[in-house]
Amino acid sequence: MKAIELQDGLFYVGVNDRQKTLFENMLPLPKGVSYNSYLIVDEKVLLVDTVEAPFTDQLISKIQSVLGDRVVDYLLVNHMEPDHSSGIRALKAIYPDVQIIGNVKTKGMLEGYYGLNENIYEVKDGDVLSLGSRELTFYMTPMVHWPEVMMAYDAKNEILFSADAFGCFGTLDGAVKDVDLHYKHYLSEMHRYYVNIVGKYGGPVQSTLKKFAGAPLKMICSTHGPVWTKHIPEIVGIYDKLSKYEPKPGVVIAYGTMYGNTAEMAEAVARGAHEITKDVQLFDVSRADQSEVLSQIFQYKGLILGAPTYCNSIFPPLKTLMDKIEIRTIKNRVFAGFGSFTWAGVMPKKLKCFAESMKWEEPSIVEVKQSMNNITEEQLMELGRELARKAID
Ligand code: FEO
Repeated sequence: MKAIELQDGLFYVGVNDRQKTLFENMLPLPKGVSYNSYLIVDEKVLLVDTVEAPFTDQLISKIQSVLGDRVVDYLLVNHMEPDHSSGIRALKAIYPDVQIIGNVKTKGMLEGYYGLNENIYEVKDGDVLSLGSRELTFYMTPMVHWPEVMMAYDAKNEILFSADAFGCFGTLDGAVKDVDLHYKHYLSEMHRYYVNIVGKYGGPVQSTLKKFAGAPLKMICSTHGPVWTKHIPEIVGIYDKLSKYEPKPGVVIAYGTMYGNTAEMAEAVARGAHEITKDVQLFDVSRADQSEVLSQIFQYKGLILGAPTYCNSIFPPLKTLMDKIEIRTIKNRVFAGFGSFTWAGVMPKKLKCFAESMKWEEPSIVEVKQSMNNITEEQLMELGRELARKAID
C-alpha cells in the first residue's frame, strides 16, 4: 500500500481500522477509527508513532513504498497507548537498528509493555533533534492523555505532531487532510472522542494549549482522524472550550426506566424544559450509547437525571452513567433530578450525594411513588422549567 505525501519529505503512513467495534473495548466505533503514523524523510528518516499491531503489515508496506531499501533511523514515540505502540515490535523486526525516541516515562513503559530497554534516546522538554533540513523540538505534555505523552514541533515548517490531542474517531476515506474531506462530519466524533478519552484532563489540555499559544501552526498531525490545516483555529477552539468545561445553554435529560413509569416522568420534565428552550435532549440510558450521552452532557449547562430506586440503590444503567460523569469531574453545571420507587425510595439522597461530590449546587428533586398523577406531573414540569431557566442564563 502506498503512503500519502503531505508535503515534500513528509508522508502519511497511518491506517484505517474498520473492524474494531469498541474502542478501548467500551466505546462504539460506528465510523471506525484511524491510527495515524507519519514518516519524515530527510538526511535522517524518522517515523512518528506506529499503529495497532494487527495493521503493521500495512504500515511497513507504506513506509517501504517511500523508502525502498533505505532504513528508518528513528522512531519517535509520542504516546505509548497500545493503539499506537503495539506495532513497535514488528517495526523493530524490519528495522532492528532503529533508535527509539521517548522520555523517561516512555522508557519505563517500553520495558514494561515490550521488554525493550536498548537503543532508546531519552529527551526532555525543549530538546531539539536535527534530521537534516528539519529540526524537531520535543515538548512534554503529560496526561494528554497518559503521563508519558509528548509532542514534537517542526518550527521551520510549522507542524505539530500532537499525539492524541485534536484527534477524533472516524476513518479517513481516501484522503487525510481536512481540506480534502468534509471535515465537519468529524466534529461530533471529535467531541465524543475528547469527552470519553481525554475529558478528565482539562487542566493538562489547558497547559498544553498555553505551551503552543504563540507557535505558528500550518499543520497539526494527530494520532487519530484528519490532518488539520485550514481549520486549525476551529479545532483548537473546540479543545479550548471543552477543556475549560465551558458549557453551551441547553438541557440534557438522562433517565432510566424499567416499565415506562419513569419514562413518563422524563417526558413531563422535558415538556416543562421545552417551554423555556428548544435546546433539550432526552436520553434513555438503557438504549442510548452512553459515550454519546456523556458527550452531550459535557457540552450543555443543564443536566437532569432520573431513575427508579433499584435494590436500595440507583437503577444500574443510570448509576454507570453517573460514575462516568463523576470520574471526569465535569464542572460548572446546573443540576436537578427525579426518582421513582414502589415501596422505598433512595433517589433524592443519592442524587444529593452525587451533586455534592461534583461540587454542584444542591439540586431540586421530585420523587414519585409508583406512577405519576396530575399533581406530580405538574411538579415534574416545573422541575424542567426551573432547571431550563438556569441552563440558558
Ligand atoms: Fe490513541 Fe491515548 O491513544
